[in-house]
Formats: sequence, structure tokens, C-alpha cells
Amino acid sequence: DYVEEINGFRVLETEIKQTLNLDRVIITPGDSDVQEWVKYDLGRRAVQSLHDELTSHETVALTGGTTMAAVAEMMQPTSSAIRPLFVPARGGLGERMENQANTIAAEMAKRINGDYRMLYVPDPLSEETYHSIIREPGVKEVLHMIKQADVVMHGIGDALTMANRRKASKDVLEELNTGRAVSEAFGYYFDQSGQVVHKVRTVGIQLEDLSTIKTVIAVAGGKSKAKAIDSYLRQGKSNVLITDEAAAKALIKGF
Ligand code: F6P
Repeated sequence: DYVEEINGFRVLETEIKQTLNLDRVIITPGDSDVQEWVKYDLGRRAVQSLHDELTSHETVALTGGTTMAAVAEMMQPTSSAIRPLFVPARGGLGERMENQANTIAAEMAKRINGDYRMLYVPDPLSEETYHSIIREPGVKEVLHMIKQADVVMHGIGDALTMANRRKASKDVLEELNTGRAVSEAFGYYFDQSGQVVHKVRTVGIQLEDLSTIKTVIAVAGGKSKAKAIDSYLRQGKSNVLITDEAAAKALIKGF
């Protein structure tokens, strides 16, 4: 029954917390691969966690993707004095407009009366553009805000799913195959043990920056993502995981 289910999740949450060395794990019922509403449930729990974390005027950096878009959709105006500043964690990573971090940051701000800043950078960036763009005053200012973020919230994807979604070049696909990439987050691709295999060239948060950020929340569910979640969390840069039952069970029982 319901109570049993809640208690069951508690055990699972503790188990995952210990296995992946996290501070907090939240599990929602179901499988977001199968039922769309589960993704919104993940979103709802992610919004709750944000509320628990935030004090008055803090900065939240976030990535794109459909899960993060669902988080934004679950946000509602609150009477609290919390007025977060939402910023994209990194420059464009090849997502559709509605799933881009810039769009999601603006949407979140609109929904909870916060503020937002955008990063206007081409996607993808050439080496040359990269070096000149980080010197642009407008970009520099937002990059500074991003690196000072109090909370980072991000999605995790399966490496090849993400590479295809981004229409990665043949060379990149080959690199991912040779390096046996399993997961993707922040534009970084990781192998089974959490080693970086490839990195998309763009501005914003670099993996190293995450260690100085107080709270890094990963939001990812669906049985098909279990292997990716495990791979990404192995390099230990996020301390909170919000996932669903199907991914959680696969994380423990193996995939
Ligand atoms: O492209 C942004 C991003 O956050 C990736 O880093 C991540 O792999 C992906 O989106 C997750 O997308 P979704 O929530 O749609 O599976």
C-alpha cells in the first residue's frame, strides 16, 4: 500500500545515497520513460528542493533538456520573499528552443517572480570565437554570476542519445564510441567510471567549478537513464539526486 511504498522508497533512497556517496536522494513513483506525468512529478520534487535550499536572493544556474523544462513548468508563484536569479549554467548545447537553458531560466523567473540573465553565445563555438566572446563585457558579467551560483540544477542524459539529439559530427560520435561514453551532463560526456571522454566547447560552468558550489542537484529519471546516472555520479560533483522508482531500482539491482 501507499505507506509501504513510501517506506520502501526510504530504504532505496538510503541505499542509493550510500552507494553513490550523495547527501540527499529523492525518489518519485513510476518510470518517466513510460509515463509522462512521472517527469512532472520529478519536477515537482525538484521545485520543493529548490525552495528548501534557497534563501532570499540567491543565484540558481541550470542546464536544459526536457526534465529541466518540466521543473520550470511545475513552478508556481509563492508568497515567500525568495527572489532567485536564474542563469543558464553553460552556453548553448544544441537543444531545441523550448529546452534550452536560457529559455528555461526565463520561464522559471517568470513563474516565481525571480530574475534571470541570459547568455547570448553561438552554438557551437569555434576556438577563435570562444576566446573573443569570453572577453565581451556583457558575456563576462553573466559568466561571473554563473560561477558564483549558490545552487546548480541539471539534467543527465544517455551519451549517445544526447550526441544524436545534438546532431554531433561523425568525429565526435567516433570519439564517444572509442571512449565508451555512457552519460552526458553540462556538455561533458563520461564513461562508465565517470571519466570525461569528450567535452562540448562552450562558455559557463566547467566541471571543476562544481566543487565550490554549495548544492548541485541532478534531476533525471527513467529506467533507460539508470546507467547514465550511475556513470555521471561516479565523479562525485553533484550531492543531491532526484530520480524515479524505475531508475532507482535499476541503479541498485544493476542494468
Ligand atoms: O542538453 C542539456 C541537458 O541538460 C544535458 O546535459 C542532459 O544530458 C540532457 O539535457 C537531459 O535531457 P532530458 O531531460 O530531456 O533527458
